[in-house]
Amino acid sequence: MERVHNFCAGPCTLPVSVIQELADELPEFEGSGMSLIEMSHRDPVYDRVHHETLGLLRRLCLVPEDFSVLLLQGGASLQFAMAPMNLLATDDPAATPRAGYVVGGSWGMKALQDAAGFGGYAAWDGADEHYARMPAATELTVEDGSRYLHVTSNETIGGIRLPEFYDLDIRQVGDMSSDYLTRTIPWDRFDLVYGGAQKNLGPAGLTVVFARNSILEQAPASIPSYLRYQTHATTDSLANTPPVFAIWATGKVLRWIEANGGVAGMEARAAERSAMVYRAIEDSDGFYRSPVDVACRSRTNVVFRLGSEELEGRFLTEAEQQGLMNLKGHRSVGGMRASIYNALPTESVGVLVDFMKRFAANHG
Ligand SMILES: Cc1ncc(COP(=O)(O)O)c(C=O)c1O
Repeated sequence: MERVHNFCAGPCTLPVSVIQELADELPEFEGSGMSLIEMSHRDPVYDRVHHETLGLLRRLCLVPEDFSVLLLQGGASLQFAMAPMNLLATDDPAATPRAGYVVGGSWGMKALQDAAGFGGYAAWDGADEHYARMPAATELTVEDGSRYLHVTSNETIGGIRLPEFYDLDIRQVGDMSSDYLTRTIPWDRFDLVYGGAQKNLGPAGLTVVFARNSILEQAPASIPSYLRYQTHATTDSLANTPPVFAIWATGKVLRWIEANGGVAGMEARAAERSAMVYRAIEDSDGFYRSPVDVACRSRTNVVFRLGSEELEGRFLTEAEQQGLMNLKGHRSVGGMRASIYNALPTESVGVLVDFMKRFAANHG
């Protein structure tokens, strides 16, 4: 099998051993005479797979007992709406709920846009600084009586990471789509954490949500049932047909993560591998440039620029010739982006760094 070095920002590279296992088990699952993806989601065989993935998420993410683990659909994008619907919406016409949003880039902005109608406001916005960093806690403007502060712990497009989770008097809601299982979550500071599986945990189609149990009953009666966290918490995420393939595959990736050191192992891996690319940028005498403040540089999405768009185009073409794929930055910002999620082989990072050095030597 010929595999390229795939730096895609999501869906992302998965462990080849997991893909092979899925291929082997796909036609017939454990002697059942059918594929798991053809089976009723009420079948005890699927039920075991489902609960294994739930259990692995709880164990690997070190989730405390007073949180529910939910397996949903609709991506993190649906959570932009579900979070305020459950935590801010009210049937009381006299109430004026508020929630602060840290806008460190495009995803924080999208989350705020969906929350604005429910009382969301910007507690900080990095637009004037071209989204080059996350703010310190002292820079946040949190209005009195706010229900929560929303953070995007890693802005996937800008390549900006919140270096330390805030420790505040107010509970937080976190979009952790692009740094799930690359850092330990301080659960006592959060009411809700969400993210799509398709970067660090598995294939697309599954959204992993962690909800503090005490918030489950807060949604007003007018919220439709699928959009209430409680619906999913009280049914072990089997209220409707779950994304069975993604849940099955994610369970396998989680077992791979467990065998490779769990969250501590992935955290060390992310720090080390991103540092390899940042070092190549720093050592290039300005040939490559990172637009992100040093303290906030992402460990999962390394963004960098070259001297001109023409040179960037040449970089991408030559990279592809070497099997280095999906290095183009997001269409909204341009430049380069190397997404280095949990399952990307370290060898791929080494090949990228060697290529960067060679390209700089040839074109510098
Ligand atoms: C930080 C962040 N939030 C939200 C999203 C949207 O996720 P989804 O495509 O799962 O809706 C993304 C997608 O890349 C993301 O990186």
